[in-house]
Amino acid sequence: MRVLLIGTGGREHALAQALVHDPAVESLICAPGNPGMASIAECKPVNSNDPGSVAALAVTTGADLVVIGPEAPLVAGVADAVRAKGIAVYGPSGEAARIEGSKAFAKDVMAAADVPTAQSRVCSSDAELEAALNELGAPYVVKDDGLAGGKGVIVTDELDAALAHGRECDRVVVEEYLDGPEVSLFVISDGTNAAPLLPAQDYKRVGDGGAGPNTGGMGAYTPLPWAPDTLADEVMETVARPTLRELASRGTPFVGTLYCGLALTSKGVKVVEFNARFGDPEIQAILPLLESPLGDLLYKAANGNLDESEALQWSNDAAVCVVVANEGYPGEVVKGRPIVGTDTEGVVHAGTATDDDGRILATGGRVVNCVATGNDVASARDAAYRVVDAVKLEGGHYRNDIAQGI
Ligand code: AMP
Ligand code: GLY
Repeated sequence: MRVLLIGTGGREHALAQALVHDPAVESLICAPGNPGMASIAECKPVNSNDPGSVAALAVTTGADLVVIGPEAPLVAGVADAVRAKGIAVYGPSGEAARIEGSKAFAKDVMAAADVPTAQSRVCSSDAELEAALNELGAPYVVKDDGLAGGKGVIVTDELDAALAHGRECDRVVVEEYLDGPEVSLFVISDGTNAAPLLPAQDYKRVGDGGAGPNTGGMGAYTPLPWAPDTLADEVMETVARPTLRELASRGTPFVGTLYCGLALTSKGVKVVEFNARFGDPEIQAILPLLESPLGDLLYKAANGNLDESEALQWSNDAAVCVVVANEGYPGEVVKGRPIVGTDTEGVVHAGTATDDDGRILATGGRVVNCVATGNDVASARDAAYRVVDAVKLEGGHYRNDIAQGI
């Protein structure tokens, strides 16, 4: 089959690496792609947030399957436009992607499906914001209602900071604070049938020990040796299946990845957030352990045939991903500095570009992901940090504690 993969980040480079390994994938076209993807597939320019442009590219490239990586095109309705051309798409409709695009919508779906999550209040005025913060108490959790690239959430003990963040946003969701470790579980759905990948853990804050602001994710590892073996089954039964059933019953079946962001609280598993796509950088750690062919899996999900898919096969290894970010990230970043060492085995390109002389430049917030496997988390971690050591970027920074002590 011919696969068209939409996106430019580390998640998409990792997906591309797994797709080209699937013998059923005869050709892979990435749009717009990045230098890492260009080294293994053909890249074509496209405005990935424009439904008409992506649909036209899917037609001209003769794609049998379109895989949409990031959330913005999904929320913009790109999957709907491609589906309208009669082409199979892995990625939810714009309506179903609201599970990520609107925190208030996600809360409404969870309430209807009886899915455990933090108590919350949707606030559209300063008075509502103040009342909700007082009611739910510290630590304060204030979330921008719309898409914010993982940076729209503030968790703080300071009432003034919570109020200030809330006032900057049009509409916010104020939540009860959830204690306990966070886990990401990605569920592949064909609208009716669903299958989980390995659970992973992400590191959201920019600095070691969880210091500093939230980011899109600074590193990840999988599997979770400390988690109960029943975790994935429990999340499927209490979170994923009820949510997918609720979306289907609303006439908006969810085809794609339901990203379940979970807190394992003292009162049980609760949803922190849903996303409508694979998590970045978690999927960079998960895919190297997947032994089943990815193209076949996504094609079956896109066509509503996931029930014909065999149980997923996984390696017994562990994998670790460490993000190297640009100076200033998650704030304003310095763009365009050269980065060397990107041809090292295990480097996944996330925010890079090639200049006229063929040099690789650091152009994004998260620049590269350094990924390695090992027979346990500790050895995968050592190997991943050896990849980090091989990468040189002025002003680049990374966390030193990814998968430490696991
Ligand atoms: P979100 O965009 O909703 O995933 O939030 C980003 C991050 O903020 C999460 O990964 C958590 O680390 C933190 N967070 C969000 N909601 C809560 C909550 N209710 N309690 C504690 N931490 C939270
Ligand atoms: N790693 C968090 C996310 O992809 O949203």
